[in-house]
Amino acid sequence: MNLESVLFTQGFGSRRQCRALIADRRVTIGGAVHADPDAEVSTEALHFSVDDVTWPYREHAYLLLNKPAGYECSRDPQHHLSVFSLLPPQFAERGVQCVGRLDQDTTGLLLLSDDGKFVHTFTSPKRKVPKVYLATTRHPLDDAQLGALRAGVLLHGEPKPIAAVAAQARGEHALELTVLEGKYHQVKRMVAAAGNRVEALHRERIGGLSLPATLAEGAWQWLDEADLGSLRSG
Ligand code: URA
Repeated sequence: MNLESVLFTQGFGSRRQCRALIADRRVTIGGAVHADPDAEVSTEALHFSVDDVTWPYREHAYLLLNKPAGYECSRDPQHHLSVFSLLPPQFAERGVQCVGRLDQDTTGLLLLSDDGKFVHTFTSPKRKVPKVYLATTRHPLDDAQLGALRAGVLLHGEPKPIAAVAAQARGEHALELTVLEGKYHQVKRMVAAAGNRVEALHRERIGGLSLPATLAEGAWQWLDEADLGSLRSG
């Protein structure tokens, strides 16, 4: 692939802008300036630098973000900041989108990708991927609420009750809830239907992939092959 295309596919602007970055000697590979946009480079294990920041070449971007509260999962947010403001700009430029949405006040594990098939697979209602949430509840949890969540609760507009795969109390006000669907405000609505109220919501896991304990709030990381395997193995 020529160097201009490398930068273009990785989201560093229009083709014209990528050519200019290269011609301006701002792109290096292995420490050496590459000033020819038409030069062929192998994308195999390629790392390149733009203005001294090094990036891996990735055919598709698969990212994980530790989402803070107060951010919307939209590129065009209405009332809060966008989660994309937490990412380097080239990801939005190359078409990265959220894999399902978290509410603005929900925190934790958010996946993003520019692989349309991957996004579709993981957001399709047919693909039942378990998602584990930790909800802080306004009222103390009790067995009746947990039983209702496990047995299934009827949500407004849904034809049949939706059951949690697992619902257990981790504390008087701490509910661990595992659901397969990804319906709008699903956890908040389920908890409300069971007679309680969610005060704070955090997503801990999707499939077999947990939010890394070392990833600070607001920070992102690439997903590697092992992470993608964990995601599918859940
Ligand atoms: N369920 C909710 O109610 N909100 C979320 O953000 C995710 C799941």
